[in-house]
Amino acid sequence: MDKQIQKALSIDADVCQGHGKCVMNCPTLFAIDASTGKAFVKTQPANAQLAQEAEMAMHDCPERAISLTTNESRQDSVSEASRPCIDESMPQDIPRVDFDHNSREFAADPWRVYGELRASCPIAHTDAHDGFWIVSKYADVVEIAKDDATFSSLPTTVIPDTGVYNLIPLQSDPPDLQRYRMPLIRYFTPAALKKYEPEIRQFTSDCIDTFIETGQCELVTQFANPIPSMTALDFIGFDPLEWHDFANPMHLLSYSADGSPEREQALADLVQIDSRIEDAIEARFVNPQADAITELTQYEKDGVRFSSKELHGLVKMLLFGGLDTTMAAASNALLYLSENPTQRQRLIDDPGLLPSAIDEFLRYEAPVHAFSRTVTTDVSIGDQKVRAGERVYLLWASANRDPDEFENPDEVVFDRRPNRHLTFGIGAHRCLGAPLARLELKIMLEEILRRIPDFKIDAAKVKHPETVTVIWGRSTLPTSFTPGSRA
Ligand code: HEM
Repeated sequence: MDKQIQKALSIDADVCQGHGKCVMNCPTLFAIDASTGKAFVKTQPANAQLAQEAEMAMHDCPERAISLTTNESRQDSVSEASRPCIDESMPQDIPRVDFDHNSREFAADPWRVYGELRASCPIAHTDAHDGFWIVSKYADVVEIAKDDATFSSLPTTVIPDTGVYNLIPLQSDPPDLQRYRMPLIRYFTPAALKKYEPEIRQFTSDCIDTFIETGQCELVTQFANPIPSMTALDFIGFDPLEWHDFANPMHLLSYSADGSPEREQALADLVQIDSRIEDAIEARFVNPQADAITELTQYEKDGVRFSSKELHGLVKMLLFGGLDTTMAAASNALLYLSENPTQRQRLIDDPGLLPSAIDEFLRYEAPVHAFSRTVTTDVSIGDQKVRAGERVYLLWASANRDPDEFENPDEVVFDRRPNRHLTFGIGAHRCLGAPLARLELKIMLEEILRRIPDFKIDAAKVKHPETVTVIWGRSTLPTSFTPGSRA
């Protein structure tokens, strides 16, 4: 049985203004009543494709008159994500599950869904977003991520496709991949980190100074967001004080659902970032600076320089890699520490625990839940046959909770060893920025624990993710603490 048919579509006639966008988007489901001039539901979405179209129409409706509710059995369907082969009778006879990481039901408790998938259906297929395979066990994720020949990172590694392209090297395959990674390595060496450290500490101290005397703050917008953003912008070659211009659209992209007005807005705003990148690259050709953009314009290997498109993609990737990811990681760690005062006290008493605690935070709640690959040739994953052209979703976040790899995976164990989490990926695409992210998190947590050690996040007002595109983090953390003095 296809669980998608259990979505109930309705239109609130009191709210509908007869705009007709839903009818234009999906005439199969909607029509305009000639007598009232308002839209009505012609038929309920009877398959996955129509359910998806209904969802898009709901997001697109200017008056928010459309609702797509899930009934009792749909609630079940979240847990049924783990039921193996819920549709064994389907022609392809593949283990279908109702899995949609963009749905609110999923975002409410992804860990439960992952647990069920790992236990019952570790290689599963979902019809959501035009269909894709889900891989949830550690060993399978590792095997696939290490096989770039069979599992390509082109054209994108995100499901559903956000339409953000030319992210280099993320969206590339060998041999280009190595060519693209080479010039970026220098920004994440121990020497580079040593250079950034005083600056990151200064950014952190400045941020805390803006709120320490008041006894309250919003730890995302005033702390977790600006620090990684300013750090990345600075070494890349943009003005760190303009971090809002870059971080806001990326943030909106990360936390908005596919097809929603917010997503449309984010994509429109990202065009401005593309222009900023283009302008900066052009300017550096004329007027070189001491920054990554300049170095990339000058980089040459075997007499070949990067094309303008490649330069654009490299700079764009540094921005996309460096901003929201670390922000999300910091937000998750801060929330955990606020909710677990005994654990927090351990870190205050023994700051030497911080580096391994940071890796444990990264494992426990991976700020990047998954990336996808496109299959280049027919292949078997476990006992499933996957065809060329199909997409495979590698759940780093689920692999990190796999009991076959981690003892007590649902517990935060600060001195966990070994801790081979997959939060930064694995294989040839492994995150280049991981050392920088770790350093930023260390400085951020050190300074918070030192200067506002009794911080308390108001749990009722925390904004948790409502959809998972790539990023998993909290976008609002209202916080209070005993006021202190500026540095
Ligand atoms: C906690 C923070 C971060 C997380 C969780 C994270 C996660 C990841 C993951 C999972 C990948 C692998 C992609 C794949 O296999 O397809 C990746 C790649 C990448 N990350 Fe990060 N990242 C973080 C921070 C950063 C930072 C701070 C930067 C740079 C400023 C950065 C730059 C990159 C780049 C350039 C790649 C592409 C590598 C490639 O495709 O070869 N990341 N990141």
